[in-house]
Amino acid sequence: MNVMITGGTGYIGSHICLQLLEAGHDVIAIDNFANSSAVALERVKALCGRSMDVVTGDIRDDAILRLLFQRHQVDAVIHMAGLKAVGESSAYPLEYYDNNVAGSITLFRVMQEARVKRLIFSSSATVYGKPKFLPLTEEHPLEPTNTYGRTKLAVEQILGDLCHADPEWRVIMLRYFNPIGAHPSGAIGEDPRGIPNNLLPFIAQVATGRRERLTIYGDDYDTPDGTGIRDYVHVLDVADSHVAALEHLSKVDLLTAVNVGTGRGFTVREVVAAFERACGRPIRCVVAARRRGDVDACYAETGLAARILEWTAKRDLDMMCADVWRWQQQNPDGYEVQKSPPLEVASTDRH
Ligand code: NAD
Ligand code: UFG
Repeated sequence: MNVMITGGTGYIGSHICLQLLEAGHDVIAIDNFANSSAVALERVKALCGRSMDVVTGDIRDDAILRLLFQRHQVDAVIHMAGLKAVGESSAYPLEYYDNNVAGSITLFRVMQEARVKRLIFSSSATVYGKPKFLPLTEEHPLEPTNTYGRTKLAVEQILGDLCHADPEWRVIMLRYFNPIGAHPSGAIGEDPRGIPNNLLPFIAQVATGRRERLTIYGDDYDTPDGTGIRDYVHVLDVADSHVAALEHLSKVDLLTAVNVGTGRGFTVREVVAAFERACGRPIRCVVAARRRGDVDACYAETGLAARILEWTAKRDLDMMCADVWRWQQQNPDGYEVQKSPPLEVASTDRH
């Protein structure tokens, strides 16, 4: 298939490009490089020995999108482009709605004009909000508690209305839980701007000595060791779920939401212990207050993905940590490119 991927040079996008190319698909990536480096896809090409088109452009620019659909016979789109920092989204709601929601509307409009109606959308478990029951099924109420989550839910709702109005569409919305890890070669991985917000990149920087210690946000949660539980899923498993979704796109109902997780949760302390095993050194930790908006536990019910996509996550937590560590050691400064700094966020939003 000819697959267009928006946000294709980012962390998850670069791994998807690789898995798509290795599965024999042709790929066109479009990215504005707001949070990524062109080096990532150079490495992807070197890893698989195949070429792909990479276009610098913004999904809010309908002219460039039109040109792309005219030049390429696109069979399906994987839409990943967007901003994703929870704290930043609360401080800059208009930027987030513009990028994530207005950008998506522009893309869907041009897709409709081009009669390309096969789509996989990168959604997030954040659309569920505070879990009312666990594991989270796709039927769980959708009540996101932050601006980022509301932009994801808005796009899901727009897609619902679009499919209702035009039943030629086929859309799979993949709700990722906590993607971590890197390609086992250590050539591609997660390269966050500034101080990492997320657990794994932070731990990895403590392991290399770039950060002094990990702050554990709360050890008084209702979990076995008091620290938060999340469903960490290897980024290559996440990438494989897209290859599976592409293959099943024409067989599913017109609009389907599917969880992408392992179904198993680990506490922060369990993740730290796994990372210590991977890197062979201790990770210094201090316990601080809970981070605003965090929940005790969040993990997926994964039966639907197994049934309708014939996909399940295969890689375990030790492998995830070993792969992050290899990437971090080989690329202590990430892709070493100057990226635009993150938007300024008040410290209360970060923690
Ligand atoms: P990322 O920031 O590494 O990748 C996003 C890419 O989109 C970047 O390359 C960025 O430059 C690009 N981009 C942003 N706005 C754009 C625009 N207007 N036009 C063109 N390109 C634009 O993030 P990621 O972790 O790879 O996440 C990819 C997608 O998955 C995002 O939509 C994110 O919301 C979603 N997601 C991520 C996680 C996670 O934990 N990483 C969890 C759930 C959902
Ligand atoms: N944590 C720490 N210290 C840190 C960072 C995180 O203790 O420095 C803890 C958090 O409190 C939480 C766990 O580690 O218990 C995971 O936190 P992350 O920030 O890595 O991930 P979240 O579950 O908070 O959020 C992630 C993505 C969101 C997405 C959500 C649900 O960042 O975009 O998963 O899919 F919405």
